[in-house]
Amino acid sequence: MTRIVRSFVYTGQASRVVFGAGALEHLEREVQLLGASRALVLCTPEQQLLAEDIAQRLGTRAAGVFPKAVMHVPVDTAAAAVAEALRVNADCALAVGGGSTTGLGKAIALQSGLPVLAIPTTYAGSEMTPIWGMTENGLKKTGRDARVLPRAVIYDPELTLSLPAGLSVTSGMNAMAHAAEGLYAQDSNPVMDLMAEEGIRALASALPRVRANPNDVAARSDALYGAWLCGLVLGNVGMALHHKLCHTLGGTLNLPHAEVHTVVLPHAIAFNAQFAPEAMKRISRALHHHDAALGLYELAKDNGAPVALRDIGMKREDIARVAQIAVQNPYWNPRPVNAEAEGALRALLQRAWSGDPP
Ligand SMILES: [Fe+2]
Repeated sequence: MTRIVRSFVYTGQASRVVFGAGALEHLEREVQLLGASRALVLCTPEQQLLAEDIAQRLGTRAAGVFPKAVMHVPVDTAAAAVAEALRVNADCALAVGGGSTTGLGKAIALQSGLPVLAIPTTYAGSEMTPIWGMTENGLKKTGRDARVLPRAVIYDPELTLSLPAGLSVTSGMNAMAHAAEGLYAQDSNPVMDLMAEEGIRALASALPRVRANPNDVAARSDALYGAWLCGLVLGNVGMALHHKLCHTLGGTLNLPHAEVHTVVLPHAIAFNAQFAPEAMKRISRALHHHDAALGLYELAKDNGAPVALRDIGMKREDIARVAQIAVQNPYWNPRPVNAEAEGALRALLQRAWSGDPP
C-alpha cells in the first residue's frame, strides 16, 4: 500500500477569518473583538472612496483615513503612516485593498505593534502571511514576523466585483502559483497540501466564470475562497523556482507582477514535474486536466491572459541574463537549480518568452 503521510511540522497561525458575501456588515463587531476603538483606515489613492465609506460605517470607531498606500511599501510612506497613526491615537490599522495596502498595514504593525484588520479586494493573499516587505532606495527588504500577520480578515466577495476581469484572471493565477509551489515545498505538510489543492480547484473553477460575468457573486466567492487558501499556503511554507524567476523578471526587467506569474507558472511547473510527482497529481486533479503544466497554460490562455513574456515587455536578449541570475544563489527547488541547470532554464524562458505550451 502507498503510505498516506510522512513526518512533518505544522504551526497554526492565529488569525480570524470572516468570509461571505456581505461580510463587511460585521466590521464593527470585528474591530470591537480586537479590543480596538480607533481604527486608522488605510488604502491606495484609487480606493479612497471605498475606504471613506468603510470609515463612515465605523462611525466613532474610525480615527481617520490614510489614502497613500503605494506599491512595494517605501519606507517614507510607512513612516508617514506610523506618524499618522500616532497623531490620531489609533489603536488598530484597517487595511482595505490589495497587496500594497496590506503591506502598509504590516509595516505599521512591525513598527508600532498595532493590530491589523485586513479587508482584501484582490486575490494577492498577503493578508494570510507573516511576511513583510519595505523598499528604500530601490532595494526591497523583507522579513517574517508574527506581529505583522493580520489578526482578523474580512473576506467579502462583493468588494471584488469591481476588480476587472483581466486582472482577476492574472491575480488568480498569481495566487495559484503559491499553492502550486507550496505542494512541493521542502517544509510542506499535509494540512497545507489539502489547502493548496482546494485553493487551485476553487480558482480554476471560478476564473472562467468571473471572466464570463465579473458580477457573478457566486463565482467571485469561489475565487476569493481559493485566494484565501492559496494565501494561507504562502504564509506557511516556502516557495521555489517559479518565485525566483518571477522576482528576477519583475525586479531586473520591471515586468508587471501578476502577468509575469501567469506566464511563467506553467513552465516552472513543467520544469519541476518529474521531480515532484505527488504535487503534479494534486494540481492535475484540481484542474481536471491530465497534465498539471498544460492545464495551467490552457487556463490562462483560454481566459484571455497573456502567455508570452514578449507580450508583456520582455526582450529576447534578456533571456540569458535572467537564466544566469536564477542560478546564482542556491535555494530549494525539487529539481536542483545549479550551474548545470542554466541551459534548461534558458530553454524554459525561451518557451515562456515565445508563448509556446510548456
Ligand atoms: Fe508570490
